[in-house]
Amino acid sequence: MPGAVVGLSPRPRYRSAMSGITIVGSGRYLPGAPYTNDDLARVMDTSDEWIRQRTGIERRHFCPDGQGASDLALPAARQALESAGRTIEDVDYILFNTMTPDHILPGSGPLLGAKLGCHGTPALDIRTQCAAMIYSLQLADALLKSDARMRSVLVVGAEAHAGFMPWRDWRVLDGSERADPREFEQATRHRDFAVIFGDGAGALLIERSSTPGTGLLSVDLHSDGRHSDELSIPAGFRRRPYATAAMLEDAEFIPRMNGREVFRHAVSKLPQTVRAACERAQVSLDEVDWFIAHQANDRINRLVRERLGLPAEKVPSNIANYGNTSSATIPILVDEMRRDGRLRPGQLVCFLALGAGLHWGAAIMRF
Ligand code: ACO
Repeated sequence: MPGAVVGLSPRPRYRSAMSGITIVGSGRYLPGAPYTNDDLARVMDTSDEWIRQRTGIERRHFCPDGQGASDLALPAARQALESAGRTIEDVDYILFNTMTPDHILPGSGPLLGAKLGCHGTPALDIRTQCAAMIYSLQLADALLKSDARMRSVLVVGAEAHAGFMPWRDWRVLDGSERADPREFEQATRHRDFAVIFGDGAGALLIERSSTPGTGLLSVDLHSDGRHSDELSIPAGFRRRPYATAAMLEDAEFIPRMNGREVFRHAVSKLPQTVRAACERAQVSLDEVDWFIAHQANDRINRLVRERLGLPAEKVPSNIANYGNTSSATIPILVDEMRRDGRLRPGQLVCFLALGAGLHWGAAIMRF
């Protein structure tokens, strides 16, 4: 590049041009009636008091057997289209965020496309777990800039965690059967992750904004696979054959989580990435109206808020009702805030998230 001087100043990781994208529609779907903490205490050794104090979670939803991420995403996507006054013909691209896809292959994006009737529309699964919405915002922005004919990008986050819950007899959770002591003891071994996750889907319809000054102002994104063991599902194609009875016995198909380490990474990395995103967008923390954070544990978000010196009312929380729905937490929260009028045009929003990988980042968006 003529005139470019390499190495004198740090290269900005991402700075979008002003007047970029906006969220024109949103939707959410939570399957069935919620399960309380007391319901979980029937299948493993835990308590309502422990879960509330350590996580802020009071209830969560689980999808029924036979439903997958694409099924949960469908009503959320339809709502997003309806709220924007768009039809499936307007969708030019699907970004599908999930860490619990319907199948090992293909991804859930094409399944959702088929269910919506978007035949032939490109559909991309994003596997950056709880941080996926930050990746999706950057990608949606880049996609809409890359092709003038493209109008709408449908971004969904949908998770069916019920499939990896460590109990087998769901009638015990419902209270219609008593737990077998051996199964109770087995489920208790996985209680750290089992109490935090819940199922659900959120969808956002993203288009170009016609209002100058609106759009994605900055993105600060990171991945560091050195910490992949802190939260992972070990099963995969490194093994031949890739599924054996021994792997089932060793619980290789359900998450292994070093909760304390993930917690430690979150409360140190999230404040850093928020500061970096604000700096790149050239806005101060005070100017930001909302910090819309991934909902993994209320204690994480409280500590991040304290470290950044933010007022509690600028960091909305809905984890009490849904638990951690992984890639779905941010779009679900955005949908709630759009529908109850908290999120309004002109406001400045900071999105922040950290998930397995590790992947983490923050994005600043003017609505
Ligand atoms: N019920 C009752 N007791 C429990 C439970 C439970 N569900 N889970 C753990 N305990 C016990 C432990 O056995 C331990 O007992 P001990 O002191 O007798 O040994 C005690 O409680 C404390 O355990 P810790 O693991 O230190 O509890 P902590 O306060 O760290 O809370 C938690 C655990 C909730 C998992 C927390 O570490 C956390 O939220 N970490 C972050 C996890 C996270 O964000 N994961 C999602 C990432 S996003 C993504 O990509 C999916």
